Amino acid sequence: MNNKGISICVASAKGGVGKTITTLNLAGIFEALGKRVLIIDFDLSGGGISAALNIPNGKSSYHFCYDYNNNSYQEFKNYITKYDEFIDVLASPKDPRQALKMNPKYVEIILDKAIFSYDVVLIDTTHDLTDFNILTLDLADVILFLVTNDPLDLKNMRSLLSIFKDVNLKNYKVILNESVYPFKDYFGIYDIKNIIKANIDYVLSKDFYIKNIDSFIMNGKIITLDKKVASVFAKDYTTLMGIATDIFKEGELHEDA
Ligand SMILES: Nc1ncnc2c1ncn2[C@@H]1O[C@H](COP(=O)(O)OP(=O)(O)OP(=O)(O)O)[C@@H](O)[C@H]1O
Ligand SMILES: [Mg+2]
Repeated sequence: MNNKGISICVASAKGGVGKTITTLNLAGIFEALGKRVLIIDFDLSGGGISAALNIPNGKSSYHFCYDYNNNSYQEFKNYITKYDEFIDVLASPKDPRQALKMNPKYVEIILDKAIFSYDVVLIDTTHDLTDFNILTLDLADVILFLVTNDPLDLKNMRSLLSIFKDVNLKNYKVILNESVYPFKDYFGIYDIKNIIKANIDYVLSKDFYIKNIDSFIMNGKIITLDKKVASVFAKDYTTLMGIATDIFKEGELHEDA
């Protein structure tokens, strides 16, 4: 294997569909696989990764851009906060006014530095199609689109995926996330595929609705790193493991090609 990692962008067509929780859960899964992970919080104006992990306020991607722009950048690791032995975080700006000052050209520079320092770079985003997000979608090796059983979300996802088809972008997987709104079951899988006009690659089931999710967040814990989760939520833990291992398998296939 060469020393270049894989970048994965967790994206959606609507807000509140479980991107941040899924980003954190995947980080836990990659840790279980022994991979070094960087979570980049590119939800620039409302990022919640540091808050969810109880990481103290420190440097953020804003400081990276500021220093880079002022020729005072030295090392990428100066902007990173450690969560545990495997997981590091590049936090989002604390003040939304800082986010407005971040030039999208830094997406490429940040991802380039990240990918040579980590096995996996997991990027949490927002659903807004800002310049920043469009560049992130363009540059990530893999996009994981989360979609829920919600008509508005599904219609938005259809539009988004049709844009992807127009520009021949194929490096995405669709995850139906039933765990965030377990009571929403208006459409069956067949209808959902028909609405979004795309395949569903993975399903996070209703069973993965975590009643005490708030206590995980308050304690800065990652759900998939909890010892009981792998057995209590075996089916969905296995799905997350499958998503993670498929990404690495496909990455290796491309390297061999
Ligand atoms: N598996 C789950 N079980 C219970 N609650 C969940 C689950 N996944 C997500 N949630 C809850 O749903 C809400 C939305 O999740 P999350 O913040 O991850 O979505 P998001 O797509 O990142 O939202 P945004 O677009 O605002 O960034 C949160 O309050 C979260 O705690
Ligand atoms: Mg979020």
